[in-house]
Amino acid sequence: MNAVQVAASILTADFGNLYRVVRKLERAGVDRLHLDVMDGHFVDNITFGPTVCAAVRRLTTLPIDVHLMIAQPARFTDRFLDAGADTITFHVEVDESDPVKRQTLQRIAAARRAPGLAVSPDTPVSAVEQFVDDLAIVMIMTVHPGWGGQHFLADRAPKIAEARRLLTGRPGAAVHVDGGVSGDTAGQVGRYGVDVCVVGSALFQRGQDAAREAERVRRAASGPLEAA
Ligand code: DX5
Ligand code: ZN
Repeated sequence: MNAVQVAASILTADFGNLYRVVRKLERAGVDRLHLDVMDGHFVDNITFGPTVCAAVRRLTTLPIDVHLMIAQPARFTDRFLDAGADTITFHVEVDESDPVKRQTLQRIAAARRAPGLAVSPDTPVSAVEQFVDDLAIVMIMTVHPGWGGQHFLADRAPKIAEARRLLTGRPGAAVHVDGGVSGDTAGQVGRYGVDVCVVGSALFQRGQDAAREAERVRRAASGPLEAA
């Protein structure tokens, strides 16, 4: 199994200094950047859109994972593809038809990027089963989407193993865990076979070494797999 990767969420970073934030994360050796897009409809918060994604794209060669917490992913996906997203993950809970969700996933794949579906804490992994042939990512939310810095919902971690099993027939597909992950909580995800840990606020603690924290997460999340 490949080494666990750390995707840094910039949601709690200083947006007044995006250049410095990206350089800091590169120096910290994170593997990917995770951009949390919120529209104030799917979640009760608004962050940024394709313009900021394109700005980050110009700043770095790190892979950019776009996490769409928006009500109409079909309507905006092309703009994030044009903005340089390497992967686009939207929520299976959105109020769009299954054929539209499938078309969006296929559009992302046709653009040679990785399509994914995110599963909120109260949604079963089985909700994405019908889309599995079009998935490169299943993202397990261990917080309720909308904010960084929330408490890790440990009882959702076993959903990672379910997502792992679901993706068995999808070589190269990845399971991401997102929300409340840090060096202290990552030990609760390693046993389930996670590929990418999204880490936000834990990397932006005042006076804390982001590189050391990223390494703590990788080590803790690479724990021995629990018997399936
Ligand atoms: C929450 C976002 C997460 C969050 C992660 O809606 O999807 O990516 O920003 O940040 P932390 O690690 O602080 O929970
Ligand atoms: Zn996210």
